[in-house]
Amino acid sequence: MNDALERFARDFPAGSVLFEEGQPGDYMYVVQTGEVEIRRQVGETERVLAILPPGEFFGEMAILNGRPRSATAVCKTKARLLVIEGKTFEAMMRARPEIALRIIKALATRLESANQHIELLLLPTPNHRVVQCLRHMADEQLALAGTHATHGSAILVPKRIEDVATRVGLPVHEVIEVVDRLRAARLVLMAEDAGIEGDGFIVPEVGRLLEFLEFLNLKDRFGAT
Ligand code: CMP
Repeated sequence: MNDALERFARDFPAGSVLFEEGQPGDYMYVVQTGEVEIRRQVGETERVLAILPPGEFFGEMAILNGRPRSATAVCKTKARLLVIEGKTFEAMMRARPEIALRIIKALATRLESANQHIELLLLPTPNHRVVQCLRHMADEQLALAGTHATHGSAILVPKRIEDVATRVGLPVHEVIEVVDRLRAARLVLMAEDAGIEGDGFIVPEVGRLLEFLEFLNLKDRFGAT
């Protein structure tokens, strides 16, 4: 790690609550190792908004807009984080425009995913939500690889069922039910089904997933069983 940043690094055990929704916030954080969960209270239940891997930052909003923390941050695993005071963060952004640019780009990506999240929440059934989410994830994977879907090309998406559940705002068991149906129809395979190690799923053909989405829409419109 850059020596200048080493002085901000701190280690946290799994389960550490870094801050809670509604508290005033004076620090922002950058994940170096481990994962941090961002949670928000919605009515009676606590929803996971995001799971942040190394390279992601959080806690910048309270510093930038002077409002209380918009969500709670908890270490999902043990984690090494850079803990940067608000004043230092602002000074860094003034002195190094490339840091400010990175933050703006990351916020634009977060806004885009919040918009996608709203779109998913407006879809009528868990089937629609999960299928549309898998499609988005497959598209993101292609964008990361800098390619487009070609006919018959399978896409490996290195995401967990838990990641899908977070995005679609459904409990994990409901997502598993939908994914099991998609697996039975061979629209989706789990990485393990294909003998690939690690978490993830495979979309054998995005086109077929889209056809299935069309079918769900028709079924919804005309009430077919
Ligand atoms: P802040 O409001 O200071 O504290 C909670 C933090 O959670 C917030 O800053 C953001 O950094 C982060 N956060 C809030 N909403 C999201 C989201 N939808 N996705 C990722 N991170 C978020």
